[in-house]
Amino acid sequence: MAVRKIKKDVYAVGAIDWDRTLFDEIIPLPDGTSYNSYLVVGSEKTALIDTVDPEKENELLENLSELNVERIDYIVSNHAEQDHSGTIPKILDAYPMAKVVTNEKCKGFEKDLLLIDDDKFITIKDGDTLSLGNKTLKFVFTPWVHWPETMSTYLVEDKIMFTCDFFGSHIASSDLFVKNDAKAVEDAKRYYAEIMMPFRMPIRSNLKKIEGYDIEFIAPSHGQVYDKPELILNAYKEWVSEDVKNKVVIPYVSMHGSTERIVNYFVNALIKRGIEVRPYNVITSDIGEIAMSLVDSATIVVASPTVLVGLHPTAAYVLSFINAIRPKVKFGTFIGSYGWAGQSVNQAKALTSNLKVEMLEPVLIKGYPKDDDFKSLENLAESILKKHESCEHIKL
Ligand code: FEO
Repeated sequence: MAVRKIKKDVYAVGAIDWDRTLFDEIIPLPDGTSYNSYLVVGSEKTALIDTVDPEKENELLENLSELNVERIDYIVSNHAEQDHSGTIPKILDAYPMAKVVTNEKCKGFEKDLLLIDDDKFITIKDGDTLSLGNKTLKFVFTPWVHWPETMSTYLVEDKIMFTCDFFGSHIASSDLFVKNDAKAVEDAKRYYAEIMMPFRMPIRSNLKKIEGYDIEFIAPSHGQVYDKPELILNAYKEWVSEDVKNKVVIPYVSMHGSTERIVNYFVNALIKRGIEVRPYNVITSDIGEIAMSLVDSATIVVASPTVLVGLHPTAAYVLSFINAIRPKVKFGTFIGSYGWAGQSVNQAKALTSNLKVEMLEPVLIKGYPKDDDFKSLENLAESILKKHESCEHIKL
């Protein structure tokens, strides 16, 4: 990534990863990603805020060289995960006078993960400040977005909040600042769904904390910089609220067509009742899109045939993922087919123990669906409609 100026003596010096297709070996990255690192040059001291994934260490070093940076006094580390901290050892090699400024927890992680010596750290507490001369850094602890040590750093004079993963997006773009608001929120929603959604409650209190600052720019460590902070703050407020939409998500898999027929019929039964519905064939779907769809859905209905007396293994995998990301769905149930016997419903319940849902009566159908089965599916659609109509968190 070319060096770009955010404000006087504040530069984006990180790297764009145009070609990365998978994160954490599970999360699809349809638009690549970036590892943003920021250089703040004060009248007396210079600070680098976060680094980049080790794959891109040369880009960061070249960017610093392009700016003729001869001295880095502080490497502020907002988060210990290696896509932001992994190049700290290289920076310490190149700038031996630098100290890593972070909180006690992050220091512990970085000693374990990156083998950085204890004497290289300066530990700070929530609310502490660090003077760079004419610029001041203030540390704002924002734990559990998405690790326990995560924090943000506020550049007081320039009103920039550097938030690391918080408000991030996996997007590779040549635009430093958000240009297309709708696209930016969509990208951030995918990131929220996959990374942040399990931490909805701590994010609520961290949002309040961040909103207490006078912010001109939100500069995360993935994706673009927000020069209209309210865009992402308002989106996050909605996502972490209890509000859900009159919407049903149906992750499904079908082997010989019975479950597909059940799902197609059920989708139409919901549409007829004015309910938004989105089926996902889990064999071919992007798991990130399923996650995004669950950010604001009221109901999840899982559909699977019976394989070796249980769920289809791909349905079980997707349910395990959904259980891990903890969407705020309010209602759930199961539909599907079986041949002679099955434990799919019990298995689905066990795999989704993190979801705080009211379970509705499942519809299990022997073989291909028949007239009575279609009536059962109509009854389930009607039951979902009634639940949605009486739910205080849905605006119909
Ligand atoms: Fe972008 Fe939690 O690392």
